[in-house]
Amino acid sequence: MPQLARRIGRAKPSAIMQVAEKAKRLKAEGRDIISFSIGVPNFLPGEHVYAAAREALDKDSGQYGSNRGADALLDAFIAHMAEIGLTGYTRANCATGVGAKHLIYNLAEALLDEGDGFAFPTPYWTSYLDVGEIVNADIQLLPCPPEQDYKLTPAQLDAALAKKPRVFLFNNPSNPTGMVYTRDEIAALADVIVKYPETWIITDDIYNRMVFDGVGYHNFLHARPELRDRVIFLDSLSKTYGMPGWRLGLMAGPEEVAQAVTTLNSNHITNVPEIVGAAGVAALSGPQDVPQQKCAEFQAKRDQVMAVLAEIPGVVCPRPQGAFYVFPDVSVAFGKSHGGKPIANDIDLCNALLEAKGVACVPGSAFGEPRALRISYTCPTPQLAPGLQRIREFFAELA
Ligand SMILES: Cc1ncc(COP(=O)(O)O)c(C=O)c1O
Repeated sequence: MPQLARRIGRAKPSAIMQVAEKAKRLKAEGRDIISFSIGVPNFLPGEHVYAAAREALDKDSGQYGSNRGADALLDAFIAHMAEIGLTGYTRANCATGVGAKHLIYNLAEALLDEGDGFAFPTPYWTSYLDVGEIVNADIQLLPCPPEQDYKLTPAQLDAALAKKPRVFLFNNPSNPTGMVYTRDEIAALADVIVKYPETWIITDDIYNRMVFDGVGYHNFLHARPELRDRVIFLDSLSKTYGMPGWRLGLMAGPEEVAQAVTTLNSNHITNVPEIVGAAGVAALSGPQDVPQQKCAEFQAKRDQVMAVLAEIPGVVCPRPQGAFYVFPDVSVAFGKSHGGKPIANDIDLCNALLEAKGVACVPGSAFGEPRALRISYTCPTPQLAPGLQRIREFFAELA
């Protein structure tokens, strides 16, 4: 058989999906499984979104669409950005993709040549590493352990940017930690970024509407508008609007970058489907009551999770203020055993928890932090308390 391309040897299937698959298999075998593993919001968009999709279906143009995205969609995105204080964008600054994941891939293709520096904080969302490896970038991880609340410090960023990576990728609110940077923290990081004009900045801020405790969402551009010529802002309908399967991601940045992504689209996907685009317009510009209500619900669930974790001796967890993840340091369990099964690391722990208690979480090593595990708490509300109770029992039973 002929050889596959070398880049495929560097591509790995998503670690999160592997846990989810195992949980699904156990469920199919009749086990009572509570899934805290996959990062889906677990709600549906408002009726107006479905109405817009149906209308688009009835008025199907029968044509290919714009490589960049339909004008109405770009305009809705521009207005949506303005609501969070990101103003002054035109259609030429924007592009769309099949989810933010696709845009990240396109941006990696557009901005990184082989061997170029690609810096991002750890813990990271899993695909950053995988995409970086596929394009053969020189990945530069910036460790942000629980002792520093999983947050990047200005001194760390300064040292990283001094190495002149081509791209610095920043994620706020964070998947997997749920941490949110305050206005002052963002301003301090932005002060560092202005010193290093050689580096593109991608802000993957797809959870920007899911911020708790009144902290607010802040971007480097709020602090330093002069960074507009090299900051690329990413957004997505997946989490905010309960539309992960619709696959719609959006970006805004310098015209050259938006054009590069548009050109890649013209060769990959041609266009985001018309019906998805119409649904996107309705989601972005219609009533926001569903996302607002869900954000309040997630904040209450975050409190519930944190209250239980606080009762488990030795488990340490910086308090998340956004998205729908909690990322406790569970290393207190390492070196112990459960039901005779040794727990040497996060993977053993997640396997034992799934097998013994039917609770699926994702090992922290999938995100570059092997001391932790990720709890995604969007499950139906009645499952949350029993799932947390099982985690508490599991830790109490460690020997
Ligand atoms: C931080 C982050 N960025 C990007 C994505 C991808 O989102 P999308 O569904 O728009 O591809 C995810 C999805 O989990 C995410 O958590």
